[in-house]
Amino acid sequence: MTAAQSLRTLPEPYLEYARLRREMPVFHDAEADAWIVSRFDDVRTVLRDHQHFSSRILAQDSFEIRSPVDGSVLPNEETLLASDPPRHDALRMHVGRLFAPERLAACEAAAHRELDRIVVRLVQGKRFEIVQDVCEPVVAAVLASAFGLESGWHACVAQWLQVSGHCNARSRPASLKADFDAMLDEIWRAAAHCPDAGLGIFMAACRRGEVDARHVLDLTVTLLKGGADTTTYLVGNVLALLAEQPCLVSDIRRDPALIPALIEASLRRDSPVQLTIRVTTADVELDGHRIPANSRVLLLLGSANRDEAVFGSEDDIHLGRREKSHLAFGAGPHRCPGVALARMQGRVIIQALTTRLPDFRLVPGNAREVDLRALRGFERMEAEFMALSR
Ligand code: HEM
Repeated sequence: MTAAQSLRTLPEPYLEYARLRREMPVFHDAEADAWIVSRFDDVRTVLRDHQHFSSRILAQDSFEIRSPVDGSVLPNEETLLASDPPRHDALRMHVGRLFAPERLAACEAAAHRELDRIVVRLVQGKRFEIVQDVCEPVVAAVLASAFGLESGWHACVAQWLQVSGHCNARSRPASLKADFDAMLDEIWRAAAHCPDAGLGIFMAACRRGEVDARHVLDLTVTLLKGGADTTTYLVGNVLALLAEQPCLVSDIRRDPALIPALIEASLRRDSPVQLTIRVTTADVELDGHRIPANSRVLLLLGSANRDEAVFGSEDDIHLGRREKSHLAFGAGPHRCPGVALARMQGRVIIQALTTRLPDFRLVPGNAREVDLRALRGFERMEAEFMALSR
């Protein structure tokens, strides 16, 4: 990675975001039938105020979760994503237990083991693809470890991540519903074989009557969907940033302890999740605007994180400077529970790519950005080793 190059091909949203923040920070968009909120303070206020801004509008996805015990369907408002406190807190507590510090250490060890295998394989070839060859296997190994599943289940977890990723996509294959149901069956079987760590934590809560079988499946699927593509998009965005500003590559090679700062800078500037949504529970005032009850409210996280009132207008990145906290992981009760896992995966993957592989360059024209307003990242990124491209 040497000469500066841009890998992005889709139009940037940032000029439009800046105009919204300046001219209409809170407004009703008739076409989207939603109130659009673009400034940092307003976005954070809404995320924290679950009493006026409910998550019940966040449908899990179009596929229902059926109990493997009695066939009943989990109502949307009982899912982790779409529930509000206090019901949400009772579910969320179990997710927190999954990411206890000792589990995170085991996940990091799993990431290193997988990267060891990947590096050995990649150096034997001329080219590789970042998403499929690097990110996806690491994310699968890490989630399998978080779930407390042995290596025999890794291929299954990789498959579940594919299915979950497709649920987030704009166009879904016709076979997805059958794949989704098969995935639920497998998750239930896997959870039953777990010790008390990972999915076993959900099963133990189920045995104690704190959640039912449908919640065990919903919590697992939500973790898969939350962790499927976001980490991959983070890695792609960091690599795109390094390609644009190659001096940052020398900085982190000289001092790998700067990688976490690079990850934070990328999360803020190019948030993998660009927006989320809430619905008002009553008439409510925001920044001088009266928003009626039952209105959809779109929160532009990607804009909030560029708000010059909080972060200044300077665009250069100084890795030695502490970044102000951003909203890339959300805020309030639904703030991402995978924060530590995402940061760890980003750090170990970027470190392996920049320090353990011979010089490579990302092949211009062969990178494909994800084409959805809600997400920012790459779904394909080809790289070739420099010695071979000369
Ligand atoms: C760079 C990577 C990631 C980003 C940018 C990200 C971003 C977010 C954001 C913005 C939310 C809040 C959505 C809202 O309030 O409407 C969220 C929620 C969530 N994320 Fe992440 N996430 C990432 C990685 C992960 C990982 C690795 C996992 C787990 C393996 C995960 C699991 C979840 C779950 C389960 C929720 C729902 C939490 C709840 O509703 O209480 N995420 N994430």
